[in-house]
Amino acid sequence: MKTIGVIGAGQMGVGIAQVSAAAGYRVLLADISQELADKGKANIARTLGRLVEKEKMSAADRDALLGRIETAGDVAPMAEADLVVEAATEREDIKRKIFENVSNVLGSEALLASNTSSIPITRLAQASADPARFIGVHFFNPVPLMALVEVIRGLATSDATVTAVDGFVKSIGKTVVHVNDAPGFAVNRILLPMLNEAVFALGEGVASVRDIDNGCRLGLNHPMGPLQLADFVGLDTCLEILKVFLSTTGDPKYRPAPLLVKYVEAGWYGRKSGRGFYDYSGPEPVPTR
Ligand code: CAA
Repeated sequence: MKTIGVIGAGQMGVGIAQVSAAAGYRVLLADISQELADKGKANIARTLGRLVEKEKMSAADRDALLGRIETAGDVAPMAEADLVVEAATEREDIKRKIFENVSNVLGSEALLASNTSSIPITRLAQASADPARFIGVHFFNPVPLMALVEVIRGLATSDATVTAVDGFVKSIGKTVVHVNDAPGFAVNRILLPMLNEAVFALGEGVASVRDIDNGCRLGLNHPMGPLQLADFVGLDTCLEILKVFLSTTGDPKYRPAPLLVKYVEAGWYGRKSGRGFYDYSGPEPVPTR
């Protein structure tokens, strides 16, 4: 593999583009407009700028890395990619449309992967031209710092696709775990009920934001408390994932906490919108309840 396509220049897509370019791949970073793709690349430049300031990276290496990332406002350049990773909004209709569009330009040997965190791979593969060359690669946020990638095989994914994608993931310095195509795969299946439960506990007045988060940080040795982590993942994303769990399993244990729904309705999506269970307008996050 030489060229990696990344569709979606948000938090996850930008992270995947950064680690792929760092490993020496040519990267095509696309979003729905040239402006959004360029903004994504500018975010990478800002992150790398901080590493240069801290003398953790040379300016020459930064420039070389950025030089390997090309941006685009549509999927046409994906014709040159060996592997395309979709990292768009966690909505099935949006992802399906992308797979249909990319399939029109994708090379006959090229692979298509989704970074979905909850939508069944077997189902998404139906929107692609060749489900044998379709696979799930689930990265964790922040991509450059998190060691894990879940590799999820759909019912029709070929052995050759799994082997090639395993090789790619290892080549960018990440560890693979293989997970079957079940809602939430392995990690989110376990994580999301915990985050949701923390919001239930907050809504029921069990403890404050600060006490719930400090409890889990200090009592469980988690790097972030569950409410801060929910803000970090995005409360809208958490809600979307829980809705997928609920609709695919029918199991009421996945019903979203009413307070989570309310926050999303208020546009309080967490860190990315400046407010969630914390207020991010100052230098340090401040608990809001
Ligand atoms: N690229 C390269 N290096 C980077 C970087 C980047 N984008 N960003 C930061 N770094 C470097 C920093 O320079 C820093 O280096 P030094 O320590 O040498 O200065 C180092 O990485 C650590 O950076 P921070 O000080 O910002 O990190 P921290 O120690 O405060 O930890 C954290 C931050 C890693 C996010 C930590 O709080 C953590 O692990 N939180 C939990 C994250 C988590 O659980 N993620 C999974 C979310 S679930 C998910 O993603 C799946 C889903 O589908 C919902």
